[in-house]
Amino acid sequence: ILFSLALVVLAYVIGSVPFAVVVSKLMGLQDPRSYGSGNPGATNVLRSGSKTAAALTLLGDAAKGWFAVWLAERLGTPSLSWNVVAMVALAVFLGHLFPLFLRFRGGKGVATALGVLLAIEPLLALATVATWLIVAVFFRYSSLAALAAAVFAPFYYVFGSGLAWYAQGPLTVAIAIIVLLLIFRHRANITRLLNGTESRIGSKKKAS
Ligand code: G3P
Repeated sequence: ILFSLALVVLAYVIGSVPFAVVVSKLMGLQDPRSYGSGNPGATNVLRSGSKTAAALTLLGDAAKGWFAVWLAERLGTPSLSWNVVAMVALAVFLGHLFPLFLRFRGGKGVATALGVLLAIEPLLALATVATWLIVAVFFRYSSLAALAAAVFAPFYYVFGSGLAWYAQGPLTVAIAIIVLLLIFRHRANITRLLNGTESRIGSKKKAS
């Protein structure tokens, strides 16, 4: 139990590493919290004009989600149940949303959730990314694409499990909670989408 607790705490700390802020600082760019939507995430870093910085942010934030869950699965002795893996998945995601290192003001969790899904099942991540891409290509809104992908992800997990993998109860619950939190974090985006004021991918216009 102590070991499981340590894994969950470690996942939270890993999730707390804000790659948007770290990458921007290392590349000599402005802090992403000071422009655009103010969100420390890849979409907003892209508004700085640096595609490299945005790509590195996406990669870093996804990698931490993947790594935490991969580690939990990897270190999983038979006694380490799916409950622990599910709690680790939730912890790394919560770390990104409420990071220890940014006074608990973090991002919206899209990239980190994707990393978590990738560690759970690559095909699940692929289906979710495909959904994101289709919506992004047609509508040019990163937030709308993320919301659509998030809504579909739990269904992909549960229904896809019949074909390609086994759905685990605790992971289903973790994915559902992650999706609900992700949607809740996008409430300002949802308002902007409804108002028609959300900024599109590729525009550097101030969104809020
Ligand atoms: O990844 C977050 C994205 O869905 C929205 O970001 O900066 O437009 O609020 P942003």
